[in-house]
Amino acid sequence: MVDNGLILTIFGGTGNLTYNKLIPAFYQLYKEGRITDNVSIVAVGRRDKTSESYRKEFREVLEKKIKDFDPEVYDRFNILIHYFKMDFGAPDDYENFYNYMNQTDADHNGSGNRIFYLATSPSAFPFISEQLKSHGLLDTGGFTRAVFEKPFGYNLESAIDINETVSKIFGEDNIYRIDHYLGKEMIQNINMVRFSNQIFSTVWNKESIDNIQITVKESVGVEERGGYYDTSGALRDMVQNHLMQILALVAMEPPARFDTDSIRDEKVRVIKNIKVNKNLADRELIFGQYAGYKGEVKVDPESSTETFVAMKVEVDSSRWEGVPFYLRTGKALDGREAEVIIEFKVDTCCSEFDASAKPNLLIIKIQPEEGIYFRINTKEPRSESKLMTVSMDYCQSCNIYYRSPEAYERLLLDIMNGDATLFTRWDEVYSAWQLVSEFTEKTKDKSTYMTSYEIGSAGPEEAHKMLEKDGRKWWLLDDLQSDFMLG
Ligand code: BG6
Repeated sequence: MVDNGLILTIFGGTGNLTYNKLIPAFYQLYKEGRITDNVSIVAVGRRDKTSESYRKEFREVLEKKIKDFDPEVYDRFNILIHYFKMDFGAPDDYENFYNYMNQTDADHNGSGNRIFYLATSPSAFPFISEQLKSHGLLDTGGFTRAVFEKPFGYNLESAIDINETVSKIFGEDNIYRIDHYLGKEMIQNINMVRFSNQIFSTVWNKESIDNIQITVKESVGVEERGGYYDTSGALRDMVQNHLMQILALVAMEPPARFDTDSIRDEKVRVIKNIKVNKNLADRELIFGQYAGYKGEVKVDPESSTETFVAMKVEVDSSRWEGVPFYLRTGKALDGREAEVIIEFKVDTCCSEFDASAKPNLLIIKIQPEEGIYFRINTKEPRSESKLMTVSMDYCQSCNIYYRSPEAYERLLLDIMNGDATLFTRWDEVYSAWQLVSEFTEKTKDKSTYMTSYEIGSAGPEEAHKMLEKDGRKWWLLDDLQSDFMLG
């Protein structure tokens, strides 16, 4: 529950993120009583709208989006939302904005607490921050925090430039860099599963684990985001942030304490220790582009942007020496599925049944199903020593009474409460960009790595060959669940 009054301003108030994620998340928080009338939301946009028309639009958006939409709750909630028309690129508009914010603060008995959420292109982050400062919008007597929507920069150099300006203005402690994957329920659960179960915490290392796989598949293509995506590609759009963050959580050492800085310290250590394979040419990095991508709206017809990446990396530490981490992500694939798979080594204790023993698998199911799957070997009924695999499959999101909170609900609440644990600190972002630069540097000629794949397929064949070469295969929960049902 947020105690103090505050105004949260969204730059990019008419953008997709605000419509699809931010306002719906605020509505849910309000409905559940986790924010109350002391929060005001000011959406800033260039389009000609009034607060009334903006609120009306959202009623329609939420009616369509939220199954159990409650019009009475919305009537109380919508008066917290205000629309302010301005061009955030025009310095003069900040004068009016200054007055408007002071008035809004006064109308709501505010205490000068302000959060500025920049859901704009990263190139606008420094300019908006400078204007807020030079127009006195940060001198309020309350706290002022800045939230930067992903991506934080386009590459290492631009990220450094942006950070130089914004960190001087807000200070690292007041900066919240969003990686919405960190707000997902099961990603937050990685630490809990790992550290609160002795059967896992004691074997979380190279002695017991054969390999770790992180798969984030999407069935949609680039949709209306071709303009942005074509300058980014899967490596920058997904690996630099979401997959790196998941890897860091899975591979980090136990933090000294479970507080914001100790966790971030351990995560950054992992990212710094990720080894880019010298053998990239040996097919340990695969880029793919779905057939038809070049014809998407605002995509260069000659584009060499990857819509799929698979890679093998290692983490240089005594815990993980020799353990491969396989990562893959892509668009227009045969389903939407995100999972972390921990494949354990096969126990070689008992030669009578070694041959049929299969590796234990622990799967952290991130989406669409949320939960934990664990596979073990057991004796087949009536046989003497024949093994079969069975699984324990916990599905948190299958409970009909359970509403899985959207990542942004948790993240918005944390920002309002001043808890930065689920946000990326500058050194994490920096190290992740550094790593991505190493990849881009080594793959200047992308054509060596690029292959095409069909829409709705399992991705490029080469990504499968990459594991076959190591005597392994990609695991996917879908396949395992159907094996079990048949089995
Ligand atoms: C975003 C990427 O960060 O994450 C998108 O920019 C991607 O390209 C999206 O589609 C995936 O998020 P989710 O929560 O739908 O898995």
